[in-house]
Amino acid sequence: MENINPWNSIPLNDYEQHMEHKDVAQAQLLNSLTYKYLKKHKPENILFLGISGGNGLEHVDTDRVKKIFGIDINQSYLNESHKRFGNKIRQLELATADIGTSTKSFIKADFIWAALIFEYVNIEGAFQFIANNCNKYINLIITIQSNNGTNSVSSTGIESVKSVKDIFKNVDGNELQNTASKFGFKLTNSEENILPNGKSFLTYEFNI
Ligand SMILES: C[S@@+](CC[C@H](N)C(=O)[O-])C[C@H]1O[C@@H](n2cnc3c(N)ncnc32)[C@H](O)[C@@H]1O
Repeated sequence: MENINPWNSIPLNDYEQHMEHKDVAQAQLLNSLTYKYLKKHKPENILFLGISGGNGLEHVDTDRVKKIFGIDINQSYLNESHKRFGNKIRQLELATADIGTSTKSFIKADFIWAALIFEYVNIEGAFQFIANNCNKYINLIITIQSNNGTNSVSSTGIESVKSVKDIFKNVDGNELQNTASKFGFKLTNSEENILPNGKSFLTYEFNI
């Protein structure tokens, strides 16, 4: 039988409650990072990898943007993103794909936002996906989680989210940068943000 990706068995509500929990507070930080990098780069063609329920889409400048694509492996997350933002952002398109293996090209993006997705996919495969979906001029923003010795999935009492532990891999920042460089991406900036439970987010900014 085909293996079902554990992300397909987590209700969006569970994932979002987990991310918003006061000890985790990752949703809030990701939202502010999305705001910061969209404002900085003012993109026209945007790709969100692992878009989930669309956290941060409210910061898209709808007067400027030509096309925005959101990809996720879980169709029900995309349905909810569409419900939340489809009317407000007419340029929004959503598609189900496995970012680690898909060879499809959906967009020629000048801005890619990849938050907490590399932990769940093959790194080379994801860069190949990015390469197939980016413009010659591209700002690629990747956020990874650094556990700093704590559990990969924090305890919030929400049981369903624990199933992703089986596929979660710590992403090594150096390996990420080396693979990025093989695909022609240059690191221009990075930042670390510490979370309430001692974990942190490492955000890398690349361009070509
Ligand atoms: C940890 S969540 C991050 C969601 C969102 N980027 C955020 O920052 O809140 C990972 C997201 O990536 C999706 N995902 C996991 N593996 C995937 C894959 N192989 N291909 C596409 N999407 C995937 C999950 O369904 C989930 O929505």
